[in-house]
Amino acid sequence: MALPTRKFDAVVVGAGGAGLRAALQLSEAGLKVAVLSKVFPTRSHTVAAQGGIGASLGNMGEDSWLWHMYDTIKGSDYLGDQDAIEFLCRQAPQAVYELEHYGMPFDRNEDGTVYQRPFGGHSRNFGESPVQRSVCAADRTGHAMLHTLYQRNVRANTLFFVEWMALDLMMDETGQVHGVTAMEMETGEVWRFHARATLFATGGAGRIYSASTNAFINTGDGLGMAARAGIPLEDMEFWQFHPTGVAGAGVLITEGVRGEGGYLLNKDGERFMERYAPTMKDLASRDVVSRAMATEIKEGRGCGKDADHILLKLDHIGLEKIETKLPGIREIAKKFANVDPVKDPIPVVPTCHYQMGGIPTNYHGEVVVPRDGNNASVVPGFFAAGECACASVHGANRLGTNSLTDLLVFGKASADRLIQFLKENPGHKDLPKDAGDYSQSRLARLEGQTGGESVFEVGADMRRTMQAHCGVFRFPDMLDAGVKKIREVAERATRTEIKDKSRTFNTARIEALELDNLIEVARSTMVSAQARQESRGAHDRADYPKRDDVTWLKHTLWYKDSDRLEYKSVNLKPLTAESFEPKVRSY
Ligand code: FUM
Repeated sequence: MALPTRKFDAVVVGAGGAGLRAALQLSEAGLKVAVLSKVFPTRSHTVAAQGGIGASLGNMGEDSWLWHMYDTIKGSDYLGDQDAIEFLCRQAPQAVYELEHYGMPFDRNEDGTVYQRPFGGHSRNFGESPVQRSVCAADRTGHAMLHTLYQRNVRANTLFFVEWMALDLMMDETGQVHGVTAMEMETGEVWRFHARATLFATGGAGRIYSASTNAFINTGDGLGMAARAGIPLEDMEFWQFHPTGVAGAGVLITEGVRGEGGYLLNKDGERFMERYAPTMKDLASRDVVSRAMATEIKEGRGCGKDADHILLKLDHIGLEKIETKLPGIREIAKKFANVDPVKDPIPVVPTCHYQMGGIPTNYHGEVVVPRDGNNASVVPGFFAAGECACASVHGANRLGTNSLTDLLVFGKASADRLIQFLKENPGHKDLPKDAGDYSQSRLARLEGQTGGESVFEVGADMRRTMQAHCGVFRFPDMLDAGVKKIREVAERATRTEIKDKSRTFNTARIEALELDNLIEVARSTMVSAQARQESRGAHDRADYPKRDDVTWLKHTLWYKDSDRLEYKSVNLKPLTAESFEPKVRSY
């Protein structure tokens, strides 16, 4: 049965920071734009971003985009593409000024300029000392950003489809993308969103791990759709573990706490980061801090009766600063850790936070896939931005604040390139005859399945497997067993059954569809991690403890069919700056 169809110039999937920034650019250009979102836009996961946006405004001392670029490349452990990183760092101040003009309520200095705080891995003069680069709205930066961008979109007449879940890309036999199929979550009704161009801004997939700072909606939907359409996923072995998730709860405690003067202590009351990173200390990059914390715990210097966490001390920074700069943190610490940080330290552990990999794009947000060896070719009509995309500016480890910078800069850049694509490709092309059939067959399988596995149990096994086999430290035997286990879990996921077929809330169906996406992300992560025989950034292998630039200075591309891996070179050529050659990384 042919599915009902709606036509748009562009469809944007996801209404977090990247989706809203892109949609605004498109709507203001006079295009008919549909934004699909599983939740009300201001509840997208960007809302949880706390500490700020990295941009070298230089409001609190000298700064430059070149220093920001150096820090980002070093932070990426030299796996980031230097053209994209230069673009990111040069555009960052402009992205912030735009937001300011849209009405974003940034924290201010006495002289009216935007306040900036220090953040991990951000330095002045190529690593000399910490710099104040992160612009913020207290510790609720993402919240302020989403509200600012949403109201501008309403003004620009962006069409929002709230509580709609995209299911699959509609691609023709030439590889051009013509939109997506999507399900209205309330009714289960499926439509074809026929668009001249499609932009994914579906966010991350941190829910492949059991301990995660990510919202439950972060199920890698864009990555699942891309993988099913035969598009590879890039650098999926690199997952960021944020140093400070509340122990046992996973909720994020911003790095802004350390930016404002807080620090980490082990059970002996030692400020141990001084040993691991003598210059940047608690403001070293995240992979370094998380590994140091995990080492302290592993070596018996963890805190609490089970010696299983680290303490984050901030009482010394004083009530006034906590109330003005970190009010959300105080609330989170009281609710989730039962401590008032004005008096007591917060128990924290490294917690899954961010995926550095994703759908491969260039710095214009065009999805690019390799053809004929190393030559990349653009997938016509398909764009991606934000956490679901891999431009690649974060390489093997992202610097704190660069995710918000990324979603603003590439949200806009991808929309600009999309507008150009529409000018060069006027009018809708006909949909392929079978557009929508694949989604219908997936749904029919789910509806018809009896005696299958519970979605919840398969999902829980996936999360446990990822947590145990592919965490902060990675061991060869655990990775080998992890690949075997995750393939078994993936196989079980093809036989899941919707136990509650009622449509009262329709959540069972949605969770089953989300699991399909999570599984692709989990498989790509485990397989890519097992294959990469070196330690780089967030990927730390006990059997290969060193970075190996001779063999492994390259991006991984994972294909869904038979877990195939290919590799492509890192772009070490910036747009205008001199290259930063890989060197030993220390903080
Ligand atoms: O620590 C934080 O506020 C998180 C920021 C980020 O992931 O960029």
